[in-house]
Amino acid sequence: MTTDPHATQAAPGGPRPWARTARGANLLGSDGRLGITIFEEVTALAQHHAAINLGQGFPDEDGPREILDAARAAIADGANQYAPGQGLAVLRDAIAAHQERFYGLAVDPQTEVIVSTGATESIAAAILAFAGPGDEVLTFEPFYDSYGAVIGLSGATHTTAPLSAPDFQPDAATLEAAFTDRTRIVVVNNPHNPTGSVFRREALELIVRLAERHGAIIVTDEVYEHLRFGAAHVPVATLPGAAARTLTISSAGKTFSVTGWKIGWLSGPADLVAQVRTVKTFLTYTSGTPFQGAVAVGLGLPDEFYDSIASTLRRKRDLLGEGLRAAGFEVFEPEGTFFTMVDAAPLGIDDATALARRLPSLIGVAAIPVAMFCHEDGAERTRSMLRFAFCKRFDVIEEGARRLATLREHV
Ligand SMILES: Cc1ncc(COP(=O)(O)O)c(C=O)c1O
Repeated sequence: MTTDPHATQAAPGGPRPWARTARGANLLGSDGRLGITIFEEVTALAQHHAAINLGQGFPDEDGPREILDAARAAIADGANQYAPGQGLAVLRDAIAAHQERFYGLAVDPQTEVIVSTGATESIAAAILAFAGPGDEVLTFEPFYDSYGAVIGLSGATHTTAPLSAPDFQPDAATLEAAFTDRTRIVVVNNPHNPTGSVFRREALELIVRLAERHGAIIVTDEVYEHLRFGAAHVPVATLPGAAARTLTISSAGKTFSVTGWKIGWLSGPADLVAQVRTVKTFLTYTSGTPFQGAVAVGLGLPDEFYDSIASTLRRKRDLLGEGLRAAGFEVFEPEGTFFTMVDAAPLGIDDATALARRLPSLIGVAAIPVAMFCHEDGAERTRSMLRFAFCKRFDVIEEGARRLATLREHV
């Protein structure tokens, strides 16, 4: 019998040792079955009832033609074997150029950038590189589910600072209280999934000051950096005092509507990046070669492309918002991402998880309960809240909004 807490040896009659770690991270579904998340449950219900699935956040349209063509050409040209572990030079150069162009950030593509298998792998590698038993990793709550899972796998303790309705901005006193001298990493996700908030500069500056005071590394997940509706995006790494302790993560999936390609990246000071790279080497070593050059093409697209994805999404947000308001929900208008969070309390509904299970059969629409992005206390605070995705075709959102508008007749 192994004593390794991360080993996968079966324990008769119970979950495996790592599943116990995973339990706190919501890897056990609400029905207690290992690996079945509410996402999968809702997706299965949506399929069963031919519902419009506004649960999972993936676009239902392809991204820019140039990028897709570049990937096809790369395969045809034989770019089909392992890329260097750090990523193709052409993509690292494009990432550095993107950081300079949009944010004035100087990043050395040789030593300060790595390409990863989606943002998810960068997040995992960064947390596993720097946090372990005895450490705390602080995230906001609600939090993107992979944070909880990876913190659990690292053996560190997951601490949280709640974001509250209606604006879901970090609260200074809550944040100060959440940091301790054991806080090894603070994970910032901005623009924020699932709340759709875009953090203000002052809040980000406070995070930097607190990280400095407590000797913490900042891991910032900015995958929605280009999906904003007016609010400015301030990368944490641009703030005074931040660069030396900040690892910035982003990904091609959301910006270019290629979530299935799983090409992400991380940049930061060379000494920290080298440590993340060591972990990344043993997670996947390298990531989709033909997609890397294609993403480099995307990062070089003109400003009009970036403006148009945001303006198209804004119209989709507004369209879905109308349907959600007509349904009787309290709607928290997002400033970024492609998610809208709502509160079902005005409909007299306080259990949004139960509602999420009923929605597909009731009105033919699927959504995700916000409680799945929370630990127990946070799940209680967000008990009546749902998240809807609007990264779908206009006709799909229109039909979803039409169905939502009938909700009152059914509850
Ligand atoms: C906040 C956040 N980070 C990371 C990811 C995953 O990014 P990738 O698909 O590039 O791994 C998502 C996807 O939903 C997300 O919402």
